[in-house]
Amino acid sequence: MDDLQVNPLYEQVIDGLMEQNYCIVDHFFSKEEVIALRETLIVKYEEDRFRKSAIGNQANEQIVGAIRGDFILWLDESGATTAEEDFFAKINDFVNYLNRTCYMGINEKEFHYAVYPEGTFYKRHLDTFQNDSRRKLSIVCYLNDEDWQPEYGGELSIYLDENGSEKAIDVHPMQGRMVVFESQLLEHEVKPVKKERLSITGWLKTRG
Ligand code: OGA
Ligand code: MN
Repeated sequence: MDDLQVNPLYEQVIDGLMEQNYCIVDHFFSKEEVIALRETLIVKYEEDRFRKSAIGNQANEQIVGAIRGDFILWLDESGATTAEEDFFAKINDFVNYLNRTCYMGINEKEFHYAVYPEGTFYKRHLDTFQNDSRRKLSIVCYLNDEDWQPEYGGELSIYLDENGSEKAIDVHPMQGRMVVFESQLLEHEVKPVKKERLSITGWLKTRG
């Protein structure tokens, strides 16, 4: 096997996952990469290509709306824009690293953009909700404006078990911030947003 250069950033994510099942990193993607992705999202959103998110087999729109209110657009790696190509290049490099250093066996991924209009939220859930046990790691990167303020809400609350008692940590969706967590282990929610909230979200999957 050829030498694998140790990547301190990736190691930070792996350490976080091993110690607490999640990790928050603010500079996984460069500011230029984040802004380019944000601009791509905005162009596609204005082209009306996003659709109301769905959950499970739930057909009833009203019930869906009471659980999550975001609009999403799945990314297509084969038809990627330059910004999306750069995004996938880094994700693929990270996946190779995880597979080679941690034998994670990730062989598939899926990502979507998400826009939460003012007043929307995503109630507490587990990402294996959609009956997809192949989802191993959840990744969210926030594409908000650089002057996002904590009072705009939209925190990602992650529920953790601390010696049998529950505790939640709140992550503010600051521009460029990335959160990685164990899809099958950590329940989480998106608190109501008071200002349109943009992100790219995805899952790294195994054979199951
Ligand atoms: C999801 C989700 C979290 C976030 O899309 O499943 O939990 O912070 N997103 O946007
Ligand atoms: Mn989720």
